[in-house]
Amino acid sequence: MRPYAGAVADEIDLRAALNAVSDVVQNRPRPLREFDQIYMKAGDMVMQSEFVARWADRKRLAFIGDGDAISVCTAYLHHREILGYGPSKVVVYDFDERICQAVERFADSERLENLDAELYNCLDAFPGPTNFDCFYTNPPWGASNDGESVNVFVQRGMEAVGYRGEGMAVVADDPELEWPKRVLANLQSFVLSQGFFVQRMMPQVHSYHLDDAPDLRSCNVLLKAMPGNEHCAGRSLAIDDSSRLEDFYGRGSHLRVRYVRERARVDYGKAHQDEYELELVEQP
Ligand SMILES: C[S@@+](CC[C@H](N)C(=O)[O-])C[C@H]1O[C@@H](n2cnc3c(N)ncnc32)[C@H](O)[C@@H]1O
Repeated sequence: MRPYAGAVADEIDLRAALNAVSDVVQNRPRPLREFDQIYMKAGDMVMQSEFVARWADRKRLAFIGDGDAISVCTAYLHHREILGYGPSKVVVYDFDERICQAVERFADSERLENLDAELYNCLDAFPGPTNFDCFYTNPPWGASNDGESVNVFVQRGMEAVGYRGEGMAVVADDPELEWPKRVLANLQSFVLSQGFFVQRMMPQVHSYHLDDAPDLRSCNVLLKAMPGNEHCAGRSLAIDDSSRLEDFYGRGSHLRVRYVRERARVDYGKAHQDEYELELVEQP
């Protein structure tokens, strides 16, 4: 498989990589559209995981939200030696207990000792430790709040790395639409205000299972702290300004939920009994 254009990486076994990502997809909870959980398509997950594994090779990586399960793919592809590189530690911080439990169950069953998850709402300051080397976030895309929700997630990522290190934000990117341009511009000025700069932008590299906008793509925005920026640590912006929470997940969909709780353990790879009924063959 050829990785993203311009990248330097070993050839990898595409069949093995796709099958490994398929294991992860089987384990993903069904997405809750009201919280902008919209999953990346499987081919793009393979490419993205390979890229993230190379970018974060031997580093401690925090995911601020990760319904897509790029965290799990990255750790699993490395563990299975399908990729010869990958982060030394991966922790997922997500407000959806179903996602955190699914990550932990997968880590247990596949013996991924460097993969962990913690229930966390980005309303709160990052819980620590704040010594990660890099962070990754695919946040709510902020179509109705000019990207404020993106900035909140990115802010928590910056806290996770102690305002040092690097980050990757995955945000909407569509040349035909106005709002993604506003979001990208606001993201750039926000990160500059926090002592980070945009190191690289990879346009339109992912697509999603999004029925009302199937062609909407996203880009990778790679961020890096300016030298000596750690003095910014501790100046964490409060999220107490309620205007930052309005339209967080889209027009009229404000951030009001602290946690999504898991009601029952579900085997996501199998049909639920409520979904079907059996009509028996008539006995002769
Ligand atoms: C908002 S979705 C963005 C789309 C992305 N493709 C996905 O589905 O993962 C990213 C993740 O953020 C999590 N999330 C949403 N609101 C959150 C919050 N307030 N605090 C922490 N995580 C949150 C969701 O559960 C999801 O896993």
